[in-house]
Amino acid sequence: MARLKLAILISGRGSNMRALVAACQAGSIDAEIRLVLSNQPQAEGLSHAAAAGLATRVLPHRDFASRDDFDAALDRALREAEADFVCLAGFMRLLTAGFLARWRDRMINIHPSLLPAFPGLDTHRRAIEAGVKLAGCTVHYVRFETDSGPIIAQAAVPVLPGDDEASLAARVLAAEHRLYPLALGLVASGRVKVDGERALVDFEGHAGALLNPPD
Ligand code: GRF
Repeated sequence: MARLKLAILISGRGSNMRALVAACQAGSIDAEIRLVLSNQPQAEGLSHAAAAGLATRVLPHRDFASRDDFDAALDRALREAEADFVCLAGFMRLLTAGFLARWRDRMINIHPSLLPAFPGLDTHRRAIEAGVKLAGCTVHYVRFETDSGPIIAQAAVPVLPGDDEASLAARVLAAEHRLYPLALGLVASGRVKVDGERALVDFEGHAGALLNPPD
């Protein structure tokens, strides 16, 4: 399969972007990063991307009169960079149906919950309030409904007695930094096929159970 030409879209800290960049630059993912783009001029991740020698671009959403206008400019920026695949990494903008149709099955996202549980914001608070014993993160293809789309990979972490939002978020984030490169690597090596609303992943694995509390 042809080498992916990636754009990574961020809005803030960019720690997942950095995990993807590190894996690509180490050669463990066969992909070329063409662009790191932020809709927030102040995004901390931009300086990390520039320091890693990557092309960066800011597209402030406030400069555009409508979501359609912003998405048209975003589409142009991606094409100008000759990107053919997009990773959303903490990109805090809802995308229009037209834009998503153009990038269908060529755009993935990471969300800090075990989808379809807890889509949207405040995932960790809601997970703690619900009393779930496993939290985690999901990498999925992007569809119109927020945090929905064919699931490529998930990682689970325990919710421990005494956890608060911050401690759970930190445990999930460490799992995100492992999961996102793993999922992108599967896509880049042609081992993921989208079949309707499911992603079929070709891998060899074990069939053990995750238990929390442990036995
Ligand atoms: C991550 O928790 C990601 O799952 C969510 O937004 C956060 C972004 O963090 N979509 P970072 O910018 O990658 O550090």
